[in-house]
Amino acid sequence: MKKIIISTLLSIFAVFALVGCGEKETKQEKVAYKYTTVQVYEQACIKCHGKHGEGNPEKKTPALNDRTPAEMAQDLYDVKNGGTGFGGSGTDHEIMEHNMKKLIDKGYDYDIDSMAEFLSYLAKNQ
Ligand code: HEC
Repeated sequence: MKKIIISTLLSIFAVFALVGCGEKETKQEKVAYKYTTVQVYEQACIKCHGKHGEGNPEKKTPALNDRTPAEMAQDLYDVKNGGTGFGGSGTDHEIMEHNMKKLIDKGYDYDIDSMAEFLSYLAKNQ
């Protein structure tokens, strides 16, 4: 039963993701990602940040489901770009920046807006 719910949710999200992508192609250069946002989250983030992005106090990983997509995009931007440059919030994410570099090396790169939407979607559907 749980599996069915999750796969239903994921397919609903896939529709959102497709709609989102269509809009963006006009504005941005098209980037080819090896995995979809959902695959990246499930394969590279879930073990530390939890099934619903709720975080894990034992591993000292913060929740990722407690902010708006815009705020989330800002934090995702920071962990990908070292918290500096345009849009950087100046927060310190040394551990996650290190993790993120390694994950990107493994092919787990993702579109920031798409990941932010996905996380807020997880938050609303716990
Ligand atoms: C090995 C465990 C681990 C994995 C895997 C991991 N994270 Fe993290 N993440 C952390 C820890 C620990 C922190 C808190 C320390 C820090 O921010 O440097 C964190 C912090 C973050 C933050 C900042 C949160 C805040 O409160 O601003 C974001 C955003 C984030 N992770 C996104 C991701 C994404 C997206 C993935 C998958 C691509 C991922 N993480 C995979 C351990 C992990």
